[in-house]
Amino acid sequence: PASTARGPHGDLTVGGASLAEVAERFGTPAYVLDEAEVRERCRTYRAAFPDAHVLYAAKAFLSRAMVHWVGEEGLGLDVCSAGELELAVTAGFPAERTVLHGNAKSPHDIEAALRLGVGRIVIDSPAEIARLAAAVGPDGHQKVMVRVVPGIAAGGHEKIRTGTDDQKFGLSLTDGSAHHAIARILDQPQLELSGLHCHLGSQITTVKPYVTAVRRMVGLLARIRDSHGVVLPELDLGGGHGIAYRPGEESLDLTALARRMRGELVESCARAGLTVPRLLIEPGRAIAGPAGIALYRVLAVKHTGAKVFVAVDGGMSDNPRPALYGVRYAPRLIGRRSTAAATLTTVVGRHCEAGDVLAADAELPGDVRPGDLLAVPVTGAYHLSMASGYNLVGRPPVVAVAEGRARLLVRRESLDDYRSRDIGL
Ligand code: LLP
Repeated sequence: PASTARGPHGDLTVGGASLAEVAERFGTPAYVLDEAEVRERCRTYRAAFPDAHVLYAAKAFLSRAMVHWVGEEGLGLDVCSAGELELAVTAGFPAERTVLHGNAKSPHDIEAALRLGVGRIVIDSPAEIARLAAAVGPDGHQKVMVRVVPGIAAGGHEKIRTGTDDQKFGLSLTDGSAHHAIARILDQPQLELSGLHCHLGSQITTVKPYVTAVRRMVGLLARIRDSHGVVLPELDLGGGHGIAYRPGEESLDLTALARRMRGELVESCARAGLTVPRLLIEPGRAIAGPAGIALYRVLAVKHTGAKVFVAVDGGMSDNPRPALYGVRYAPRLIGRRSTAAATLTTVVGRHCEAGDVLAADAELPGDVRPGDLLAVPVTGAYHLSMASGYNLVGRPPVVAVAEGRARLLVRRESLDDYRSRDIGL
């Protein structure tokens, strides 16, 4: 993150706080969030997309503090479960600024969404239309959008690509199922179709797929106007904006994205004779990711064959991303200076499988030893939100740093947390 700097003692500071001190005070593993960085990223989005409604994708990371930060910065929220919605609303987030997603929304999700007054529900399948209309009731009213699959392949890994017809999300633009669903929604008086949605995938680092998406989605808006005489006022282009996990990696240029998306939107709409719809975007990773740092304590060092293994006190239960997507990180030694030569090191976790690797090719000083601290930058998105209870090690705490001070946001999970659920014999 921008706020990271080498402190006076060879120490790494974030938000003015020493990471080594945070590790001492709160224990390891721990996740640190730089509040100023989160807020700054929200502001960057609002400045780059002044006419758009920016929704933070809560799945990247959610806590009550996060809800406050994005709310205060004027963003909306993209949620995909009753849990995320309930957490946000009970933390004071205005429900009308939320959008509910999901390819398989449960009756509980729908009930919570209607009870709490969610702003928009994004319809993802044909079956959902009648179910939602029934839940809203003949006298009710709910704004909805339709998730369209525009037939665009983009995204950092096959598991996070959602723009083509060979995956589970949305309704196809190419085979006509989106158009068909739209006709049915327009027939439901209690459902107000406010617009179209698409989400191409995640960790996308080029602008072009978004420009193509704008063109195709405006094409569909024009067809809807032609066949139904309805001009939909909103277009949600999802998230997926890619970030750099290691120095030198590419990230999506937000200024270029905003300029080219808007340019294409204005042009396509002019060509089709459409009023320009209100744009919505849903970044998750690009807001939370770079603001997070994971802290680990080294427990063991092993030289095996040609490899150096450094084992830490966390692993795939707090960061499943290397195992799932083959993502690479750049861990750093913190808390002491080392002059030892950089050595190619495999940083592994403490879990009971060989695939529990946090960083396969880290460059760390050759003298890393038990007791040392490692910091893994860019771990604010899709780490704790995907953490598991594997091996009952307890999910790490979340510590916020701001203006030189550290405070606990989410405490470490304890054995008592597990025990309280383990109620049968
Ligand atoms: N909108 C929708 C409908 C989504 O499904 C997602 C992410 C987003 C927005 C936010 O995308 P972002 O801006 O964060 O890329 N666990 C994976 C990422 C899964 C993304 C799921 N959907 C990972 O760790 O890379």
